[in-house]
Amino acid sequence: MNILYAASEANPFAKSGGLADVAGSLPKALVKDGIDARVVMPLYGDLKMKDKLTYVTNFSVPVGWRSQYCGLFTAEVSGVTYYFLDNEYYFKRTGLYGFYDDGERFAFFSRAILEMLFHLDYTPDIINCNDWQTGLTPVYLNLYYRHLDKFSKIKTVFTIHNIAYQGKYGLEILEDTCGIGKRDQHIVEYDGCANFMKGAFETADKITTVSPTYAQEILDPWFSYGLDALLRSKQYKLCGILNGIDVETNNPETDPVIAANYTIDSYQDGKAKCKEFIQDQFKLEKDGSPVYGMVSRLVGMKGFDLVKSVAEGLVAEGIQLVILGTGESGYEAFFADLAARHPGRVGAYIGFNSKLAQQIYAGVDVFVMPSKSEPCGLAQMVACRYGTLPIIRETGGLRDSIKDGSVVPGNGFTFAGYSAHELYDACMRAKKAYETPEKWDELVKYAMNVDFSWDNSAKSYEGLYNEVVDLW
Ligand code: GLC
Repeated sequence: MNILYAASEANPFAKSGGLADVAGSLPKALVKDGIDARVVMPLYGDLKMKDKLTYVTNFSVPVGWRSQYCGLFTAEVSGVTYYFLDNEYYFKRTGLYGFYDDGERFAFFSRAILEMLFHLDYTPDIINCNDWQTGLTPVYLNLYYRHLDKFSKIKTVFTIHNIAYQGKYGLEILEDTCGIGKRDQHIVEYDGCANFMKGAFETADKITTVSPTYAQEILDPWFSYGLDALLRSKQYKLCGILNGIDVETNNPETDPVIAANYTIDSYQDGKAKCKEFIQDQFKLEKDGSPVYGMVSRLVGMKGFDLVKSVAEGLVAEGIQLVILGTGESGYEAFFADLAARHPGRVGAYIGFNSKLAQQIYAGVDVFVMPSKSEPCGLAQMVACRYGTLPIIRETGGLRDSIKDGSVVPGNGFTFAGYSAHELYDACMRAKKAYETPEKWDELVKYAMNVDFSWDNSAKSYEGLYNEVVDLW
């Protein structure tokens, strides 16, 4: 089976969030299972490993009434073929998104994915699109390519990684920029706007999201950012499959950046060294206190208003805190200030640093992730792999991956209500367990034993792909 995985970012070439991790590891797992999975993404100005790319050809892509140049490059990493779509006017910029013309940039990308197929000796059975940046691909496929032999049987799957970002623009961009005339605008129009994600919901053969719980949650207005009614009407084609993580790169036994390597049998020594390293990095006292860590974008969705409410209380209880991330200035200032007021007890790194992030996963005792909503979340899985117990709120993929270990064995600590009291209680339960070494040992081993590799989830995708291929 041929799967073309279309994404606006993919490891190891470009990353702004979890989508890149998934696009960099799911296709690899599919290839291992004998599927011809390939990835297509934009050729960004600051793409990594550019020297690995080979030029294939170039062609024109319709953008409204205009025609734009598109270069096609390719590379192979871990058995997966990547295609890069090049247009310097759209993509040679610093950063991936957040530009005034993102709508046009990704309308171009969505259409270039289809145009590319004319120039390849490869026809996908399924194009698996991801998030709003590729939302127009199934729309264009149905409107403008279906009648052609090469395209007549191609099915589409659309995966939602975060429903908060829908690609919403004024209706006026549809005709001039996207090339979708008045007759067809209803496909993409929602709530008075052009909505790329809505277009994908209408036209894709299946809609998936990144955890079973999130697939349920987005039918509810609290989670759906306005799309619940529409999704309820599409429920027949909606399902959730939990993401996996790359267990080769996230492996405490071989990870080259952590202070000491360890396995489940040697974790006590190894983690103790990694913890010392982190305490040194953040100039924390080495007095046997538990260290709780966070690595995250500092945004409301991640539950930082709860963390703000409990932070002083945790410090007063003798818990050390370590935070790495960037985001809303209010949170950045809060954590910088907290660290300044509690030297030796709190450390904050306001910035992005993937090496230090990995060292935190390995070096802290507890990983805090109290998200308001979390489609899947990968950090809690990485934490478990490194023997660090997560505290999570029971939402989305957090709920599907972490089982509370306060009473019976589990791989973390969980709470249900979005409340600072519940978070605080979970933090105290974690502290109590930390102070009971046999209990802690049992939980850490339990967590390290959970299989978060893609093995299971890739099988679920394969099942879904088989079902989609046979749909019509
Ligand atoms: C988005 C979601 C996150 C998920 C990731 C990969 O970043 O916010 O929860 O883990 O996509 O699917």
